[in-house]
Amino acid sequence: MRTQVAIIGAGPAGLLLGALLHKQGIDHVILERQTPDYVLGRIRAGVLEQVAVDLLDEAGVGARMHREGLPHDGFSLAFDGRHHRIDLHGLTGKRVMVYGQTEVTRDLMDARHAAGLTTVYEAEQVSLHGFDGTRPQVRYRHAGEDATLEADFIVGCDGFHGVARASVPPSAIQNFEKVYPFGWLGVLADVPPVHEELIYANHSRGFALCSMRSKTRVRYYVQCSLDDHVEDWSDARFFAELKRRLPEADAARLVEGPSIEKSIAPLRSFVVEPMRFGRLFLAGDAAHIVPPTGAKGLNLAASDVGLLGRALAEHYRGSDTGIDTYSQRALSRVWKAERFSWWFTTLMHRFPETGDFGRRMQQAELDYLVNSEAAMTAMAENYVGLSLD
Ligand code: FAD
Ligand code: DHB
Repeated sequence: MRTQVAIIGAGPAGLLLGALLHKQGIDHVILERQTPDYVLGRIRAGVLEQVAVDLLDEAGVGARMHREGLPHDGFSLAFDGRHHRIDLHGLTGKRVMVYGQTEVTRDLMDARHAAGLTTVYEAEQVSLHGFDGTRPQVRYRHAGEDATLEADFIVGCDGFHGVARASVPPSAIQNFEKVYPFGWLGVLADVPPVHEELIYANHSRGFALCSMRSKTRVRYYVQCSLDDHVEDWSDARFFAELKRRLPEADAARLVEGPSIEKSIAPLRSFVVEPMRFGRLFLAGDAAHIVPPTGAKGLNLAASDVGLLGRALAEHYRGSDTGIDTYSQRALSRVWKAERFSWWFTTLMHRFPETGDFGRRMQQAELDYLVNSEAAMTAMAENYVGLSLD
């Protein structure tokens, strides 16, 4: 099989890149290790920046998001038993869209299906060859048969544990990593949200986040230990812990309900440099991970493929400037999002090793933040997302 662009991974990065390339008339094939249902079953991000919203519109898949998504003009920081609103729209003129990663993925899958584009699900033993030369190849097994896909370019959109980054010789790549000493326990439940906007809570027992997927479905998180197991967290224990970390008025109002999904995610900051190796590009979680505080993971995946989609379109029109500057331009955004996610994580979580001094530093910073328009504006600018250009 021959194509112009071979994409590894049908998560949001791979699917959105495919949709953007299709709009530009560029032929491509996506190879995905899992089944479509498995990909849709992963409950992950929930907040889209304007840049991601614009890219989904550009790809022609934004209609349901505009109908069903919830535009949010602000969020609350909760500490000392009170809410402090960050007025995103008032401070920046921009807002964010609450619309789940599962829905984004479903919309992209449906559009792909309707356009008759090729996605090979359950592709096994994917391996990458010749990307340092002019004739890259991807080999894989599918339905018991060996297959080879020849392409002009390969794009690794295969997440943190994927094969693309692992195929690059270690001498050509530099990794930057920070692992945090805690995780997030997340619960999805069909109950009305406790508040009309998201609440990020800093509490002496640990961080908590009240997010949502719709007016009838919530996504709530509490900071947990890395030694915790989901089985040890009954719904009753989860809600009791969440309520302890919220202001009293929220705890009193919060509606509990049976969890539809419950999982623990570790927190990590990770960046790989560069994001291009000859005719192989990396995009999304294959190249970088942010801790979830601030919801940058999915948005970075979208902005990477936004840049790369344009760069590949320019290449086929005769200019290589875009592909030659992709790594540098993407990394400049990535590092700013890494900084914001690290800062917001550090501000909001309980770090046992920093002791009472660390706690006082957080309290001083939160107090400064909510009383300084300059500091709130800096936070809001990063939360709504930096522009693509
Ligand atoms: P992925 O979504 O990981 O997609 C990669 C795809 O590649 C997968 O479908 C995988 O099956 C496939 N693949 C992997 N290896 C191979 C292979 N060898 N061959 C073929 N296919 C392969 N972000 C937030 O903003 N907020 C959150 O609350 C949040 N929660 C998260 C919770 C978890 C548990 C995780 C892991 C991430 C979370 N994120 C969150 C981050 C966000 O979901 C990711 O940034 C986003 O999914 C990145 O999209 P992607 O397409 O780059 O990678
Ligand atoms: C969600 C996750 C985040 O990390 C965040 O900052 C906001 C919302 C969510 O899953 O809804």
